[in-house]
Amino acid sequence: MNTLSINNLSLIYKNGFQAVKDISLDIGNGMFGLLGPNGAGKSSLMKTIVGLQKPTSGQIIFNGKDVSNNPDDIKQNLGFLPQDFGVYPKVSAYDLLEHIAVLKGINNSKERKEQILSLLEKVNLSDFRKKEVHTFSGGMKQRFGVAQALLGNPKIIIVDEPTAGLDPEERNRFNSLLNDISQDVIVILSTHLVEDVRNLCSEMAVMNNGQILRQGKPADLISELENRIWSKPVDTTELENYLSSHEIISRQLIERQLHITVFSEQQPEKFEAVNPLLEHVYFRTLTQKP
Ligand SMILES: Nc1ncnc2c1ncn2[C@@H]1O[C@H](COP(=O)(O)OP(=O)(O)O)[C@@H](O)[C@H]1O
Ligand SMILES: [Mg+2]
Repeated sequence: MNTLSINNLSLIYKNGFQAVKDISLDIGNGMFGLLGPNGAGKSSLMKTIVGLQKPTSGQIIFNGKDVSNNPDDIKQNLGFLPQDFGVYPKVSAYDLLEHIAVLKGINNSKERKEQILSLLEKVNLSDFRKKEVHTFSGGMKQRFGVAQALLGNPKIIIVDEPTAGLDPEERNRFNSLLNDISQDVIVILSTHLVEDVRNLCSEMAVMNNGQILRQGKPADLISELENRIWSKPVDTTELENYLSSHEIISRQLIERQLHITVFSEQQPEKFEAVNPLLEHVYFRTLTQKP
């Protein structure tokens, strides 16, 4: 079992902006979902965990060892798929993996070759190993990204918004790949897609404005909302009234009709009961007043 403990972690950028505010998390093997809207601070938190940014305060403890001031201690055990990979050099997929493997310190050339070939197989890119990565489709690039993250058999894999920009089929394929690799390692997945967390993650946290607002098992967080979520079709003109009298957690057009979903301990008049979903947990967490 691997453990990653984040204790009171804060990150203030050079311009004085605090993107990570006193975050504490305990993460074990399996897939952990970090769910939050754009600008929540997910990438800032992940870049701090992987050692690309030094925390302003707080600790990162990996398998009992404080790695916050010496990122090299975690780098050997870590694979990272950043949100923005930047520009790919004009070399083949195989050669790029070879290059990254050397950087990761896999010095034995036979071992390097074996790992690269088996990872290409795992992410379904064996047939494309001689092609240059910049010519790949979005889904292929992300699968390549997983292969490079897995070089060196890391114990923690961090993937930052990996399915943004993938079409539904590529997204499914990518998610099942993540699911396959998450058995014996820690995988931290950041996303703004509630569905991906629901389908993949055994533990999750909701992040906004640099803070962790909720954390737990998706199923537990959902069951807390049992008999507390209600919905009703409304006219746009009535919306103002409901906003002042109800705790609205989302508004949605269903077949061109506006529906509001509210949180309430009792059934509000003329509202229908709704089975709680993870998106209700997410929306309620984001709209809830502290
Ligand atoms: N290098 C930086 N300097 C200053 N502010 C930054 C920097 N990088 C990100 N931010 C700010 O930090 C906040 C969180 O950004 P980010 O971590 O990218 O969020 P997310 O990944 O959840 O979309 C945003 O307001 C963003 O503008
Ligand atoms: Mg981000």
